Amino acid sequence: MNIKSANLVYFTGTGGTARVADVFERSFMKKSIAVQRTELKGTVAPVGYGDLLVLLFPVYAFNAPKPIAEWLKKIQPAQGHPVVVISVSGGGEISPNTACRMSTIRHLEKKGYDVVFEKMMVMPSNFLIGFDESLSAMILHATPVIVDKVVAEIMEGKRHRTEPYGIDRIASKLGYLERLGGSFFGRQLKISDKCVDCGWCEELCPRDNIKIIDGKHIFGKDCVICLRCIYGCPQRAITPGFGKFMVLPTGFDLKKVENRMDHLTVYPRISQATSQSSLRGVRDYLIESNCFEL
Ligand SMILES: Cc1cc2nc3c(=O)[nH]c(=O)nc-3n(C[C@H](O)[C@H](O)[C@H](O)COP(=O)(O)O)c2cc1C
Ligand code: SF4
Ligand code: SF4
Repeated sequence: MNIKSANLVYFTGTGGTARVADVFERSFMKKSIAVQRTELKGTVAPVGYGDLLVLLFPVYAFNAPKPIAEWLKKIQPAQGHPVVVISVSGGGEISPNTACRMSTIRHLEKKGYDVVFEKMMVMPSNFLIGFDESLSAMILHATPVIVDKVVAEIMEGKRHRTEPYGIDRIASKLGYLERLGGSFFGRQLKISDKCVDCGWCEELCPRDNIKIIDGKHIFGKDCVICLRCIYGCPQRAITPGFGKFMVLPTGFDLKKVENRMDHLTVYPRISQATSQSSLRGVRDYLIESNCFEL
């Protein structure tokens, strides 16, 4: 494929998808492809797509998050413009995640785009069950290797499309309930007296859903449960009034993992690091990278 420019359009909650976008940017640039980046944060002006549009999003409840669906509604129709769809999850390409790109692809195709490649990437999980430091670092090491392979295949003109499991198609429809739940979740967020009024959460929220007026936090209806304010508050002063189980008690900070990973010299085997059955998809991802011993 003759690509000279690419636009990476992405939504990110806690930075995992932004990391994957960074890695794609570096990989494209190594191949002398000009890269433009557009984060779907707040109001987004119309963007050009270059020769290739790469759409990236975190998996939320086996589907794409609401900001992606909203953006897709607004994009202009196109005649066969090539698109790559990248989902980023904590679980990997296992059931019930396999249909998470389905509605996004359907929307793009309805508007005349040509989805040439789809792929699940893995990042450390920010939700329900956290990963330990060595597993998180292994994932961060594996990602550039996998992205380089994906970019090489795209450049060679290879097409890669997957067939979701039937049961996962149903799961991804149930994922719409999570979109409705966001509004409720957001309005139930609580601020403790640890808050020092720094205003950082207002800055952080990708949905402009937090306003601090006269020292009081007002949460609007546009929350998408991205957890960015909860993990990003320097005082850990924001807690959910509903759905506490979703939030990792130890917090979530990818920068911390990145800072520490340079000091990790010995990694466990993949089979040891992913011995829990819930980590099957992560295991496959690490095996695919060929970076670690099985
Ligand atoms: C509300 C919510 C729902 C999620 N649902 C799933 C899911 O269905 N499957 C999965 O593998 N990971 C799920 N995750 C984990 C995220 O997809 C994963 O941590 C991702 O890397 C987050 O990307 P981000 O840091 O760009 O927000 C969910 C996370 C959140 C916050
Ligand atoms: S980021 Fe935390 S400490 Fe700062 S204003 Fe928001 S809740 Fe308060
Ligand atoms: S209010 Fe918090 S959880 Fe909701 S969208 Fe904003 S940053 Fe994310």
